[in-house]
Amino acid sequence: MRKTLSRIWAFSQKRHGAMLRALGFAFLRSVFGAFQLYAIMLTVGVLTGQTNAGNALPQVALCTGACVVGNFAASYLEQTAVMHTGFYMAADKRIELGGLLRQLPLGFFTSSSVGRITATLTTTLSGLETASVMTMVGIVSGLFNTVALFVFMLFLDLPLGLLAGAGMLVYIVVIGWQMALSHKNAPDLQAAQTRLADAALTFLQGIKVTKAFSVKNGDTALNEAIEGSRAANLRLTDRSMPSQFAAGLVIAGFESAILLTSVAGGAEAGHTVILLIFSFMVYSTLAQAGSMLSMIGMLESAISEVEELAQTPPLKTASQLRPLQDSGVEFDHVSFSYGSTEVLHDISLTIQPGTVTAIIGPSGSGKTTLCELVPRFHDVTRGAIRIGGVDLRELPEKELMAQVSMVFQQTYLFEDTVLNNIRIGRPEATENEVMAAARAAQCHSFIMALPQGYNTLIGEGGSTLSGGEKQRISIARAILKDAPIIILDEATSALDAENEREVLSAIAELTKNKTVIMIAHRLHTVQKADRIAALENGQLVQSGTPAELLEQEGIYRRFIEEKKSSIGWRLKNS
Ligand SMILES: Nc1ncnc2c1ncn2[C@@H]1O[C@H](COP(=O)(O)OP(=O)(O)O)[C@@H](O)[C@H]1O
Ligand SMILES: [Mg+2]
Repeated sequence: MRKTLSRIWAFSQKRHGAMLRALGFAFLRSVFGAFQLYAIMLTVGVLTGQTNAGNALPQVALCTGACVVGNFAASYLEQTAVMHTGFYMAADKRIELGGLLRQLPLGFFTSSSVGRITATLTTTLSGLETASVMTMVGIVSGLFNTVALFVFMLFLDLPLGLLAGAGMLVYIVVIGWQMALSHKNAPDLQAAQTRLADAALTFLQGIKVTKAFSVKNGDTALNEAIEGSRAANLRLTDRSMPSQFAAGLVIAGFESAILLTSVAGGAEAGHTVILLIFSFMVYSTLAQAGSMLSMIGMLESAISEVEELAQTPPLKTASQLRPLQDSGVEFDHVSFSYGSTEVLHDISLTIQPGTVTAIIGPSGSGKTTLCELVPRFHDVTRGAIRIGGVDLRELPEKELMAQVSMVFQQTYLFEDTVLNNIRIGRPEATENEVMAAARAAQCHSFIMALPQGYNTLIGEGGSTLSGGEKQRISIARAILKDAPIIILDEATSALDAENEREVLSAIAELTKNKTVIMIAHRLHTVQKADRIAALENGQLVQSGTPAELLEQEGIYRRFIEEKKSSIGWRLKNS
């Protein structure tokens, strides 16, 4: 428990002040609670004839009034402070994680990790936001109150106080048992919740396909995740039930014992009543703190999940500018593994500045992965990649990004105007420069035909445009950016013939006088490349000019032959 409380404390970082304020108000609330006790003692005194009613009445009224008003004010302030601490703490974490996410290698963001990150940033942090500070304050103030009441009780009646103390010890043992269970089950529940958020996201992203193809069991994963979350929740409840009941039983047992002891002891009525009220209060504050303790396991694993994300190592980048000789790209004995699976093996390839290199090879041979290493979506496992003679890892991120533009088969457009979507390429570009890039990318005429021209809002992900139009906008972006190295990954393979022609002429504009690495399937494009690199099973099996490779038996010749006999290489290798 101490460990979890100190983790919550550490987690709240900049919000320690607010947390202490909440604890302070909780303490104040207990002080006002004590007024109530005093009023009760006076009242019992009056009832048993020990105190004069006339003297006691104003004091009772004053104490009760102070208790009600003070309690209300302190509770109000405490709750506000608890909420504030929680909200700010979660906001701090979200901002911190947002900052971190920007520094992670892009290869980190696979579809599964995006689901997990989303779940952590929303569900998990929301849970911590509302529950962690409340639990912390509840436990600390509850324990403090219990101890204070207990000490008071010892003064009133030592034997009965000790009996109540014994009850508290037994209760704490039972609660310890409950906490151990909660610790054991919480990760299970946490994982089930993350899976649920992840599955819901995946389901929503794929809902078009699910509907369009009437995929029968398109929601199987989601249903399983819902079922899993339900089962995990029930398991947690089922398992914590016995210990919760046992805790209740301990309290009821010891309260009865105190009652019986005092009756049997023939103690005087007023004294007995007060003792009874005290013991009830001790146990009810203890039970309140105890019920909070069952949250501990949940909070612990939620914090672990957030911290795990927070500890993802960011991409190491240099801060010092290094002069680049040119825009040539050199792969020097590059190997790369996804996790423990090596998918690129010892690739050495030099790409001269201003030349076009076509990468060919069957599906899964590692073409995309090789290209993604250049803008550091992932870092090489062995070897090095150099641009203009400088290792990528020694380039500041900004500098690297300024050197490389990528155009993918899938493009992403933001929910913003067409103008701003192109301007992402170079934020300081003027409207005229944006339009010039759009013209070069064959976008201008279709943009002008949109309802508000360049100011038309594009739906999320570009949903309101056709595939070819989105592709051309992404090329306009790259033209505007004007980076010396251009990487094209099957930029035309998802397009129909009409669109393909326009995208090709946009690409011709984009790649003029640049160093180009392209993964391409069109015979024409590949034949016109300066050099060809052929990959197979993650190995570079051929490289040279098209004429050289035509002389050799190998992938390139097979590629040409297959194309010429118009067999759908593209279909097989999409
Ligand atoms: N994010 C990833 N995680 C794990 N393995 C991957 C990932 N992306 C690709 N791979 C694997 O790496 C190999 C090369 O894939 P890829 O570079 O996409 O090939 P290509 O572009 O030539 O089709 C394949 O075996 C593929 O399954
Ligand atoms: Mg690929």
